[in-house]
Amino acid sequence: MSAPNKQYDPVEVTPLHPDEVARMRDEALTAVAGAQDLDQLKQVRLAHVGDRSPLALANREIGALPPQARKDAGQRVGAARREVSEAIEERQQILEVERDERVLVEESVDVTLPWDRSPRGARHPLTTIQERVGDVFTAMGWEIAEGPEVEAEWLNFDALNIGPDHPARTMQDTFFVESEDSGLVMRTHTSPVQARTMLSRKPPIYVVCPGRTFRTDELDATHTPVFSQVEGLAIDEGITMGHLKGTLDHFASAMFGDGITTRLRPSYFPFTEPSAEMDLQCFVCRGASVGNPDRPCRTCGSEGWIEWGGCGVVNPRVLIACGVDPDRYTGFAFGMGLERTLMFRHGIEDMHDMVEGDVRFAAAFGMEI
Ligand code: PHE
Repeated sequence: MSAPNKQYDPVEVTPLHPDEVARMRDEALTAVAGAQDLDQLKQVRLAHVGDRSPLALANREIGALPPQARKDAGQRVGAARREVSEAIEERQQILEVERDERVLVEESVDVTLPWDRSPRGARHPLTTIQERVGDVFTAMGWEIAEGPEVEAEWLNFDALNIGPDHPARTMQDTFFVESEDSGLVMRTHTSPVQARTMLSRKPPIYVVCPGRTFRTDELDATHTPVFSQVEGLAIDEGITMGHLKGTLDHFASAMFGDGITTRLRPSYFPFTEPSAEMDLQCFVCRGASVGNPDRPCRTCGSEGWIEWGGCGVVNPRVLIACGVDPDRYTGFAFGMGLERTLMFRHGIEDMHDMVEGDVRFAAAFGMEI
């Protein structure tokens, strides 16, 4: 007897036997048919057509067969694998349709159900206008500065050239903190932020400071003891009243739209010299009520103009008090009332609406972010 010829004698490779291939195929088909959802089918796919599945392993054995046996075995295993893959694809489609139908039913929203969520709040227009003002100035390269609402009396008054005898310092206007000699006040304007800024950094300075301010006024249609201002301060070499006018005109158009007419009217503030009030042409009568008794205007009292805020060239005494060299630098400052700005911008007639906190008032301005 000769020794077995390793190359040519048929070798029995169990996984490639027709019965065995058929058994693996049937087992796979049963598993496919039994998959109840896409997850299960994924497991079946891994187990029966993946790299480590019995049919894939059988496929690898083909190389061990003698050449004449390979073709048959190859066709057999190939057909079985194809059949299993096709069955999986078919099952996949069926299960996807089932899933989609189920999702449609399970996730449908009954729009007729009663609404039980609490109504949404709204941002107060004073907050959004402060941000809007900040945007207008930061777009020109300015920075936003902040200061405390409880302020040192010295910064609120003395540094700004408001001497001890100035009427603004009396109990009439100012909320003092604790006792009148505590040295602390609720800031009566945002101007102390000018002083703080000049004391803490070197020119050039371009800052705006929107914030809350306090005066002992009674709440009525046009006054409120807690109100808001936006302060602006520019300190640089060669700053003039012209820069002030240009900046405020730009600010006015950003707030009220292009075509708004402004004017500077001479005025007095201890911390600016010269000083002015910036007026806006009355947006209701556009000046038509002036000298025209047949067409009186309630908004401007038939003056044709309404006051927006104060401004001027920073008084050198303020520069000196705040450590800025008045021979080298000049500057301008302004302080506009934000409630007034909102009233003009939106035709709000009564201050009460602005301070009472009724969400219906704020909601009417939309969810401006
Ligand atoms: N602080 C002034 C006020 O409250 C406004 C103002 C600011 C005027 C800056 C001139 C310059 O009325």
